[in-house]
Amino acid sequence: MNIGVIGCGYVGLITGVCLAEMGHSLICVDNNEEKIKKLKNLIPPIYESGLSELLKKNKDRLKFTTSIEEAVKDSTVIFIAVGTPPKESGDADLSAVENVVTSIVKCMDSYRLIVEKSTVPVQTGTKIKSVMEMRASGVPFDIASNPEFLREGSAIDDFLHPDRIVIGLETERAKEILLKIYEPLGVPIIVTDLQSAEIIKHASNSFLATKISYINAISVICELAGANIKDVARGMGLDPRIGDKFLNAGVGFGGFCFPKDVRAFRRISEKLGYRFNLLKEVEKINELAKERFVEKIEDMLWNLQGKLVGILGLAFKPNTDDMRYAPSIDIINHLLSEGAKVVAYDPVAMENARRVLPDIEYRENPYDVADGADCLAIVTEWDEFKNLDLEKIRSLLKTPIIFDGRNIFKKEKMEELGFIYKGIGV
Ligand code: UDX
Repeated sequence: MNIGVIGCGYVGLITGVCLAEMGHSLICVDNNEEKIKKLKNLIPPIYESGLSELLKKNKDRLKFTTSIEEAVKDSTVIFIAVGTPPKESGDADLSAVENVVTSIVKCMDSYRLIVEKSTVPVQTGTKIKSVMEMRASGVPFDIASNPEFLREGSAIDDFLHPDRIVIGLETERAKEILLKIYEPLGVPIIVTDLQSAEIIKHASNSFLATKISYINAISVICELAGANIKDVARGMGLDPRIGDKFLNAGVGFGGFCFPKDVRAFRRISEKLGYRFNLLKEVEKINELAKERFVEKIEDMLWNLQGKLVGILGLAFKPNTDDMRYAPSIDIINHLLSEGAKVVAYDPVAMENARRVLPDIEYRENPYDVADGADCLAIVTEWDEFKNLDLEKIRSLLKTPIIFDGRNIFKKEKMEELGFIYKGIGV
């Protein structure tokens, strides 16, 4: 099938490359010329494991361009995967979606299926339909919603081996096309109406964020009551109705999906007439997780003025260079505002981090970070940090204090090694 994908961000690019891997011919569009230039040279503009190989492998089925017209002319199906960033109010900014839709409709000369792939508030599909109806001058089209659930760091595997595919649509023709694309994956396909598909995405992300905030709240109670969150989470997670995934307490969730999607879902619910206060609390607990982490550092180091804090991990989670809404940003800015000096290391996110955290010093490896620091704070659970030479780290630190914001170490073992160890909820 000839397929167009508009927007070569995380979701769009992975969608394009994976659909090419499935045997389709793809035209991928982005208005960022720099990005398209890189992609034409088969250089991935983002760090994602396996992406470079897949780009090269499928180069004959992948075209990259800045022209929406080119993609619309040659494709029956067009996926819209442009950004839907948050506005000041928390509402999703859908202006990029609208611009793309109006550009698409201008160059349509026969039937097209327009698929929303970006995460959008419920009823966006209906809005797209009315924008198109006003301008399509009789050219037939269908709208579908096909939310993407891939995670950064395992995006390709998630796309090609998803738990489920969700498709919201209104006609048999659209259903036939999308089933033809996705049936080869051999996974459950939920076919529903546009609104339900849109809500499945927002409701899933908000549920997962709620699960993280729930366990982070429990971790506070564990600290206050002298319990251990790791054992508590394990004891809860073995109940299959709860499940053991997403029960890791830490410094909170970040990334470009959860923070913005929770907020956008709360906003759209409010607009529809329901105050989703539970989600407000989820956001509050997430902020509190970062604040408590800094408070722990302050409690232990006393005055932060002039103290050197070593940070391990900057990306919002391991295996990505993505710094968007990374908890490290708020944590570090808070430390700096208290007069601390910060040195940091991340295996791949330092280049991106320099843009958002220009006032800290970046070092080559974890040992250089520990060297002379008053404490070490782990913010992202990269595997590299789990295998550190801890004796060496202890000898390099000015005082052997470790704040483990992701609970990668065991308290008993760290204390045996001579560290003063503060985890989350332990
Ligand atoms: C998420 C969803 O998982 C995905 O389905 C959706 O399409 C996009 O948003 P992603 O943002 O890539 O994916 O990251 P994810 O692995 O889900 O982690 C999100 C955040 O939650 C990270 O900051 C992570 O550190 C945090 N997290 C996750 C926890 O703090 N504890 C956990 O137990 C799990």
